Amino acid sequence: MRKQTIPLVILLLFTFILVQGCASTTTATSVETGSDTQVPATELDGATLVQERCTVCHSISRVENKKASLDGWRQTVERMISSGAVLSSDEKEIVIEYLAATYPE
Ligand code: HEC
Repeated sequence: MRKQTIPLVILLLFTFILVQGCASTTTATSVETGSDTQVPATELDGATLVQERCTVCHSISRVENKKASLDGWRQTVERMISSGAVLSSDEKEIVIEYLAATYPE
């Protein structure tokens, strides 16, 4: 029992640190009062989304090798969604903006 819970705790901690680290790069609610350790689960980060959702069918280098405008990335991301990439409409906007900012034309 205990042996199995330890890796889980480590994994949870790691995820938490990762989310915290990424959260600082997004805009969102920087002035938060009250509860200090609460990370909103809805806070989505472009880099994390790309890492998670855009590496299912091909490697990240496929993404990194492309340079495009906002419109160009929009077209690519929409094509990926029609091929089967899983992104909600909110996530799609975050990903498109992140890609256009990170890999501009
Ligand atoms: C369901 C599988 C799948 C997922 C998920 C996926 N892709 Fe793709 N991607 C492909 C396939 C297949 C190709 C090659 C055919 C093509 O270009 O449409 C490709 C090609 C590409 C290319 C090279 C072609 C170009 O337009 O320059 C880029 C860039 C790219 N994907 C980015 C992304 C991004 C960003 C995401 C995440 C939003 C993503 N992909 C998620 C299947 C996927």
